[in-house]
Amino acid sequence: MGKYVWEIIRHTFSPQFLVALFYSFAYYIHEHVAWRSTIHAERDARIHATASIRNAQNVYVGKNSHINHLCCVWAGENSKIILGNNLLMGPGVCIFSGNHSTIKGRPMTFQARQEESIVIGDDVWLGAHSVITAGTQIANGVIVAAGAVVTRSITQEGVIVAGIPAKIVRERLPAPEFNINEMDTVEKILAR
Ligand SMILES: CC(C)(COP(=O)(O)OP(=O)(O)OC[C@H]1O[C@@H](n2cnc3c(N)ncnc32)[C@H](O)[C@@H]1OP(=O)(O)O)[C@@H](O)C(=O)NCCC(=O)NCCS
Repeated sequence: MGKYVWEIIRHTFSPQFLVALFYSFAYYIHEHVAWRSTIHAERDARIHATASIRNAQNVYVGKNSHINHLCCVWAGENSKIILGNNLLMGPGVCIFSGNHSTIKGRPMTFQARQEESIVIGDDVWLGAHSVITAGTQIANGVIVAAGAVVTRSITQEGVIVAGIPAKIVRERLPAPEFNINEMDTVEKILAR
């Protein structure tokens, strides 16, 4: 125990403490504050405090849409990410509109990025830990299953896609005969 108390005291009065403090503060500003002034988000859009947004000037978030816990929405300097209305996201969703170039013989970190915009329609649900790659478009009403990787556009509305690469597994079911807005009591629902 004494060892750890001594460690705290010794490092609190060290130059490393100031360096760490500066970096933590700088990352906080970069990750949680700076993007807020440039993102194009409707007023009722909800963006979780742990979400990571890059090139926010190229990110558009529609009405009543939700960027959830630990999601990454990384637009490029020259590519947009456009999210529709009523979008649902599970935790850990990643949307990247850029890729590193991958030519052999030169470190990828020094190669130009390849960028292509992403467009996601209205009433889409992106399941937990799904990944949406550059240049894809997702039609209205699509469900992307948890863990799927969307590498090609999903052009058919109202389908469920799953897997890597994401493929259509089935269509969403039509509405049942009763209207959910007309259900007034839990007892009535259970009695059906
Ligand atoms: C996509 C989802 C909604 C489908 O649920 P469902 O209607 O019960 O799915 P079904 O059982 O009709 O599945 C259809 C097929 O897709 C497959 N499938 C479903 N989810 C899958 C997934 N995440 N990855 C791979 N395959 C999946 C099923 O195994 C089934 O295949 P089969 O026909 O060969 O048996 C659900 O699986 C899912 O991923 N939900 C996301 C949960 C989440 O991320 N929540 C976060 C909180 S917002």
